[in-house]
Amino acid sequence: MSRRALISGGSSGIGLALSERLLERGYRLFWVSLDEGEIIRSREGLLKRFPDAEIEGRALDLAETHSVARIVQWVQGEGGIDLLVNNAGFGVYGSSRDLTVEAEQAMIDVNARALHAMARAFLPLMEDAGGGLIVNVASNSAYVPTPGLAVYAATKAFVRHYSLALSQELRAAGSPVRVMTVCPSAVSDTPFKDRAAMDGVRTFSSFTATTAAEVASDILKGIDRGAEEVITGAAMRRAIWLMRFSPAPLVRWLTRRETERA
Ligand SMILES: NC(=O)c1ccc[n+]([C@@H]2O[C@H](COP(=O)([O-])OP(=O)(O)OC[C@H]3O[C@@H](n4cnc5c(N)ncnc54)[C@H](OP(=O)(O)O)[C@@H]3O)[C@@H](O)[C@H]2O)c1
Repeated sequence: MSRRALISGGSSGIGLALSERLLERGYRLFWVSLDEGEIIRSREGLLKRFPDAEIEGRALDLAETHSVARIVQWVQGEGGIDLLVNNAGFGVYGSSRDLTVEAEQAMIDVNARALHAMARAFLPLMEDAGGGLIVNVASNSAYVPTPGLAVYAATKAFVRHYSLALSQELRAAGSPVRVMTVCPSAVSDTPFKDRAAMDGVRTFSSFTATTAAEVASDILKGIDRGAEEVITGAAMRRAIWLMRFSPAPLVRWLTRRETERA
């Protein structure tokens, strides 16, 4: 029986690059994204390279609270999954005073609330089935309060803290389910930055930028070695290591400088 993975945001960017790598390993894929046309186009693109691939997608809005129950019903009806990749997410750049409350709440709903709801829904199902892996995509923004991305960075700090703590709880309880946290640095070739209206914002990208393919490769290496946390890109790994020995005000000043619009 083929292994099965559910990837939120699987039809674009990091999710799409990871999908390609999982197809190489014989996974059957389930995608949930917003844009039905993009799901169809991305699926057709992958089928040209992997003609026998099994990829199904649903256009559902994870900001809607009922979406997770529909996803569970759909995927369990197909036999369940052994890999859940909570990758869907987005940012909106701007001062919190300038953004609408609704825009900020949508980020919280998709990046944090839906991720938590998906993990809670699939965890017992995976345990009952004998095991599984939950991969939660946070960000380098999870490490530092980030002006211009205040709510986005806060949602990613939630993802990182929640995922690392859940991982420890499951290990201590002897659960057959593992949790891995992924913190990508700026990714140069996904629509994320355009969608976030971040034109002219550096976000350390001049020296830490990575690509979706590199992030996917680092995720797979992390899965293979049973990592609890994966920071993608060698430059970002060094920067985060250095941050541990740097005064917090200096780190916050550097972050503010890098996230101001040039
Ligand atoms: N790119 C970066 O620099 C960067 C850095 C650190 C972390 N990350 C994180 O990496 C993840 C993937 O980002 P990416 O760079 O690959 O960007 P992306 O190409 O824009 O991918 C985001 C995916 O999430 C989906 N999505 C967004 N809102 C959704 C909603 N309400 N309901 C269902 N699906 C939704 C999108 O669906 P549609 O395409 O159909 O709209 C898309 O497939 C995100 O969690 C992001 O925060 C990105």
